[in-house]
Amino acid sequence: MMSVAARSGALAPYLHSTKHAVKSLVKPGAKDLAPAAAPGGIRLAHTDIKIPDFTDYRRPEVTDPSKSSQDSSDARRSFSYLFTGATTVVGVYAAKTVVTQFLSSMSATADVLALSQIEIKLSEIPEGKNMTFKWRGKPLFVRHRTEKEIAAEEGVNISELRDPQHDKDRVINPKWMVVLGVCTHLGCVPIASAGDFGGYYCPCHGSHYDASGRIRKGPAPLNLEVPYYVFSDEDTLLVG
Ligand code: FES
Repeated sequence: MMSVAARSGALAPYLHSTKHAVKSLVKPGAKDLAPAAAPGGIRLAHTDIKIPDFTDYRRPEVTDPSKSSQDSSDARRSFSYLFTGATTVVGVYAAKTVVTQFLSSMSATADVLALSQIEIKLSEIPEGKNMTFKWRGKPLFVRHRTEKEIAAEEGVNISELRDPQHDKDRVINPKWMVVLGVCTHLGCVPIASAGDFGGYYCPCHGSHYDASGRIRKGPAPLNLEVPYYVFSDEDTLLVG
């Protein structure tokens, strides 16, 4: 094993050159300040690098180096919060405007909406009669029911029905039955005031509906569909 003295002798040329390098890095006359043997710890001053002046981009409160930045931190934080809040409000408003305009561009125009509704004068339909209108390309049945028909439909035991629904749940005013004239079997147009139950009869495969548009006999699985409608006044029905 090599002794300490022997190792010092073997490293002597390198130690000498290291000391020489340290001396060459230290300013003349300041050699006492240089670390004894730590050339890696010495940092070179790159005085040739010009540091840009960012004063124009700094807030005036922090440009004075004699003042602590903590003195103005509250005011600067308030400004940051205010700026962030204002940006958020503007962003949300812009997003809302874009979304609203996008959605409104997909909504139906006034002429399309006009076609989607039908206005019916009820005084033109005599009691006991059914009239057929065309609405959204489909037949629409409006039936002016008699007191006898109303009483008969309200008295039906719904537990016997294939598609159980009480008559009161299918009308707004019991005098007026409003249904789509499309058979729920395969889409034929039923005949009004026909069939075993006096309501509607579909001749395609023999489905019988009552005067409430409920399926009573035949292959159709469901009652005739009741569309959305309102009575805009006593004599006007608005469907759609
Ligand atoms: S389509 Fe009406 S019974 Fe078949």
